[in-house]
Amino acid sequence: MMKRLSRVALMLAATIVGGAIAAQPWRNTKLPSDDRARLLLDAMTLDEKIALFHGPMAVPWIPGMVVPEGAIGSAGYVPGNDRLGIPALQETDASLGIANPMLIRGPGDMSTPLPSSMALAATFDPAIAFAGGAMIASEARAKGLNVLLAGGVNLTRDPRGGRNFEYVGEDPLLAGIMAGESIRGIQSLGILSTVKHFALNGQEHERMTADSVIGEAAARESDLLAFEIAIERGQPGSVMCSYNLVNGIYGCQNDWTLNQVLKRDWGYRGFVMSDWGAVHTVDAFVAGLDQQSGEQLDKQIWFGQPLKEAVTAGTVPQARVDDAALRILRAMFAHGLVDNPPVKAPIDFAAHAKVAQDEAEGGIVLLDNRKGLLPLVAGAKRIAVIGGHAESGVPSGGGSSQVANPYHQGPIAPRMVPIGGEGMMALMQNVVFDPSSPLMAIRARAKTAPVSFDTGIYPETAAAAAKQADVAIVFVYQPSTEGDDVPSMALPFGQDALIEAVAAANPNTIVVLETGNPVRMPWAGKVAGVVQAWYSGAKGGEAIARILFGEVNPSGRLPISWPVDESQLPRPTIPGWGGPAGAPVKVDYTIEGSDVGYRWFARQNIKPLYPFGYGLSYTSFRYANLAVKGGKTIVASFDVTNSGAIAGKDVPQVYLTIAAGRKMRRLIGFEKVALAPGETRRVTVTADPRLLASFDTAQHGWRITPGSYRIGVGPDAESEILWGAANIASARLKP
Ligand code: BGC
Repeated sequence: MMKRLSRVALMLAATIVGGAIAAQPWRNTKLPSDDRARLLLDAMTLDEKIALFHGPMAVPWIPGMVVPEGAIGSAGYVPGNDRLGIPALQETDASLGIANPMLIRGPGDMSTPLPSSMALAATFDPAIAFAGGAMIASEARAKGLNVLLAGGVNLTRDPRGGRNFEYVGEDPLLAGIMAGESIRGIQSLGILSTVKHFALNGQEHERMTADSVIGEAAARESDLLAFEIAIERGQPGSVMCSYNLVNGIYGCQNDWTLNQVLKRDWGYRGFVMSDWGAVHTVDAFVAGLDQQSGEQLDKQIWFGQPLKEAVTAGTVPQARVDDAALRILRAMFAHGLVDNPPVKAPIDFAAHAKVAQDEAEGGIVLLDNRKGLLPLVAGAKRIAVIGGHAESGVPSGGGSSQVANPYHQGPIAPRMVPIGGEGMMALMQNVVFDPSSPLMAIRARAKTAPVSFDTGIYPETAAAAAKQADVAIVFVYQPSTEGDDVPSMALPFGQDALIEAVAAANPNTIVVLETGNPVRMPWAGKVAGVVQAWYSGAKGGEAIARILFGEVNPSGRLPISWPVDESQLPRPTIPGWGGPAGAPVKVDYTIEGSDVGYRWFARQNIKPLYPFGYGLSYTSFRYANLAVKGGKTIVASFDVTNSGAIAGKDVPQVYLTIAAGRKMRRLIGFEKVALAPGETRRVTVTADPRLLASFDTAQHGWRITPGSYRIGVGPDAESEILWGAANIASARLKP
């Protein structure tokens, strides 16, 4: 009986579904996304199409703003269409976890904060990027959100960049791979991801008026290449265009970057959404922008009535309307938004914290261990922990990407330290200390050894505490937030003086830097060790303590060169600094062109404090037996051996150093390898041919000059252990 009933029910259901499909053929999940989007487009009125092209912020960010009906409450919302079965876009920030801006979804809505993306880049481990992406996507799903405003991949051209902590370093290959894998992880769970901010949004200071000036070849070989690689790997459903101008034209109305480079040359099939408040005219639509986000922040809802009028008047072609709608619909079908909508569900915070911890442990960089003080021996020493709110947690970067309500339970709640200021962005200028206390994690490991704590506010009391101890561990931090850059590379709040005082009181001083960026280290030679912990996320305190005590062998490598100070930079002063607010600012990237970061240092023949790719381990590695094959590209194989006594991970890097007679330095491959003591592994790296090429603007494509190509293998951008060469054939590659 049961069997017969269920068969009847099934048949009935099939007829209903069949009927629905006959009436709305785009519901047929067996059809390719392109076909479904086309079928749906055919059924839409102009008004329905235009409704796809704009949406409001879904937080009452400025007085008078209301959360639109149907919105869950997040950075952005584009209403759905019930008649046609199109779900709303519920868009949330960002790469580092699911934000809950202004606690719009209530104080009980908490999320897992990942370490900063710079820490992710420092892992040099694509699998960690994928896992982090999948983790935050599952939290987005659990909250009913379906679009993640993630995938920050702007190259870090200045160590003072306020959003560098949201980006993945200075090298296009590393950044492209890491952002691409994070996007792939996000979209593996049916959440649509962006890649952002397109393009050349390397400066936060005066980001609304900053004009990034650069030649085409240089742009294609640097920032654009990072986006290109991230898009190829991650296939993001959307690209978010940027606030800044590129060569005199706003990022969100830039025909060159949007129509020519992204859509024509790269064949990008997703849609372009604007950054929030980045649309200045209806003409942006024809220049390649498909959707206006956070529309209340713009002067007008350009992509509403004004766009409709332009279409009716014939100044915007109907074909362009259909193209934009198709791009949005196709992306929604392709990424599961229609067939696999998110369902609110509980979150496994313990499992997710582990993902954040793995990332922190893989990305913390041991910069200096000159006296071999690290790892600390459990129970053997008196330890003084000083500063950095280490009793509370680990800092995070500010702005839209911040998880201001990190998951917490029990006695330690997240501490929020406001940086102050006024205006629209002031709301976001906070350092939130994720509740993972380094002090508690150190105490748990020190066992019988006494661990004291001093806030570090007064150097005098800190020095007195350090004198009483065998080892002093000083935690220092530098806030960085969206909306502006930091004015200098110096640590704020008198923390340099604090370190000096502690180091003078105790030669066994270890500094733990909790910063978004490289900072000046006037005390570099006076301390026994330096650990770069970045912003380390949900389990940062645990991760730092595990590195300090050797439960984890450090394996992070710098994804950004560490200058001695600002005088080594292409632009020692931040463009526009000290000028009138809101005035046009020229950011001259023609100075370094595509020679960003370590390439600039190599070209200028100057030595940073620490090079790109650098990081120490508690074990040692040996490289041998390099074989280089040429032809269409370079294939380099070599042996990596763990020559020390403990297990560890290394990141051997392959750099192109001479290309057909032209000196250069370009990372063409790397791999993170885990090795037991004495173990040897053969690593093979195949270069993306674009990394051997230059961009030829006259021929409109990549060009490889034939000749001998010399490569070096080493542990960072400056240390070459092995070298070899091979002949590469002439080639032209599509742009
Ligand atoms: C940021 C974007 C963010 C958006 C929505 C903008 O100010 O630049 O990265 O996704 O706000 O919050």
